[in-house]
Amino acid sequence: MKNQGLIIPEHLAIIMDGNGRWAKKRLLPRKVGHRYGAEKLRQVVRWSADYGIKYLSVYAFSAENWARSADEVNALMNLIVEFFGKYEDELREEGVRLRFTGELSDLPEKSLQVVKQAELDSKDRDRIMLNIALSYGGRQEIVRASRLFGQDLLENQIAIDELTLENFRNYLFTPDIPDPDLLIRPGGEVRISNFLLWQLSYTELYFSDVLWPDYSEDDLYQALVEYSKRERRYGKVNK
Ligand code: FPP
Repeated sequence: MKNQGLIIPEHLAIIMDGNGRWAKKRLLPRKVGHRYGAEKLRQVVRWSADYGIKYLSVYAFSAENWARSADEVNALMNLIVEFFGKYEDELREEGVRLRFTGELSDLPEKSLQVVKQAELDSKDRDRIMLNIALSYGGRQEIVRASRLFGQDLLENQIAIDELTLENFRNYLFTPDIPDPDLLIRPGGEVRISNFLLWQLSYTELYFSDVLWPDYSEDDLYQALVEYSKRERRYGKVNK
């Protein structure tokens, strides 16, 4: 087994960064970089499932990405539709359950339809869950959760002192998914960029300079080697 000696995270999160620079280096339009980025995602899902990772969360489109050019936004929205059409069989064979996190109501009608259908069609698969963040922002998620709590409070569904760390989670997009154990950000930037702010509190962070379309199986292996060496204390002192 290739994961001998490694500690495998149950939940891996990835900020898929560097598509634009990858394309620019090749004098290609940015949207071509995203196309290669989507192909990379397909490979990384397979590698992750082979390692026994149970949840893979990826940042595909942030709430702030709507401000990019209409051409790039449309290309990304079309890519999502195309991806699930093209790889439907493969995702089924790999046992990939799909989830989508974010303000999905912002998506164009066609993309929304495709992601909802993909969730429904895959709901009984259990080898790995691919959680794709679309029109997602961590701060936006926390504000949304606060509003939902406020609504429940007004309707007397919950009392104010029942708002605990555990209960607050129920108002987030994916209360049923455990927090990420490891976050990988390729692409050279060393920041979180509004991804899973609540959920990343105790996540191990790993940054690398490789641009996402170039991300290799060995790059993933190296991240897992490093993760295996980390001592996770959650603020406590280990004996
Ligand atoms: C960040 O790179 C990447 C994105 C904003 C988009 C990521 C999307 C994909 C990899 C495709 C996802 C596809 C599916 C089917 C879910 P960037 O454009 O900011 O790159 P740069 O920092 O080099 O400019």
